[in-house]
Amino acid sequence: MVNILKDSWISRKASGERQGWLTAYDYPSARLLDESGIDLILVGDSLGMVVLGQKDTVDVTLGEMIHHLKAVRRGVSRAPVAVDLPSHTYDTPAQALASARLLVEAGADAVKLEGPLPEIIATLTKESIQVIGHLGMLPQHVREEGGYHRKGKSEEEASRLLQAALDLQAAGCCAIVLELVEATLTETISNKLAIPTIGIGSGTGCDGQILVTTDLLGLQPWFRPSFVTPKADLATPFKTAVKEFIQETKGAEK
Ligand code: KIV
Repeated sequence: MVNILKDSWISRKASGERQGWLTAYDYPSARLLDESGIDLILVGDSLGMVVLGQKDTVDVTLGEMIHHLKAVRRGVSRAPVAVDLPSHTYDTPAQALASARLLVEAGADAVKLEGPLPEIIATLTKESIQVIGHLGMLPQHVREEGGYHRKGKSEEEASRLLQAALDLQAAGCCAIVLELVEATLTETISNKLAIPTIGIGSGTGCDGQILVTTDLLGLQPWFRPSFVTPKADLATPFKTAVKEFIQETKGAEK
């Protein structure tokens, strides 16, 4: 059971297929993504920033993730649904297992967690929980790091990241998200792994890309990460429709 995603993703990678992943936090956007043919929907803890108006992802709770995961699950019949384990819900193997089980019960096909934590990951995969790793810039550590900094610039950091990726694969991960990793290192890691790497702000040398859907659609014009080229500007028709409604309502005769 645990290897369903892993086996299929390894053979898709081997045949040269790339994957496109996006985030969702609610029923309608999950359903639209699923109907559009997306390869995977992630209920990301970016929830904190793009839905809850928080400054980073650090304060998102397991309860909030479960609430949004359930809404997403109802909208999806085709794509796998993955969910982030939020900060400090996987500090020990036992805590990680308890948290991940709650997410699987709420409808997750896989969980994602941040960092070089092969022991935690092996605990979950041994219990048939499918795990996606996340290396490079780790948003749950943004406060200690003092910002969103690119990773893998020095040789030492690059070899640590490559080793971490190999360890995560050995621990049973079915894919690894690489965030803000130097493009050449992304390519090296991708070439060394059998499982797919999914990049965000890490160049084009990975086996797929993931973005926060609101960034892709231009729904939050007040914040755009430098590596995102939005494919739409949905904030503008949104506001135009609202303004038309207001005008029509105020101008309507009684
Ligand atoms: O929380 C999130 O949305 C993520 C991404 C990789 C986009 O972890």
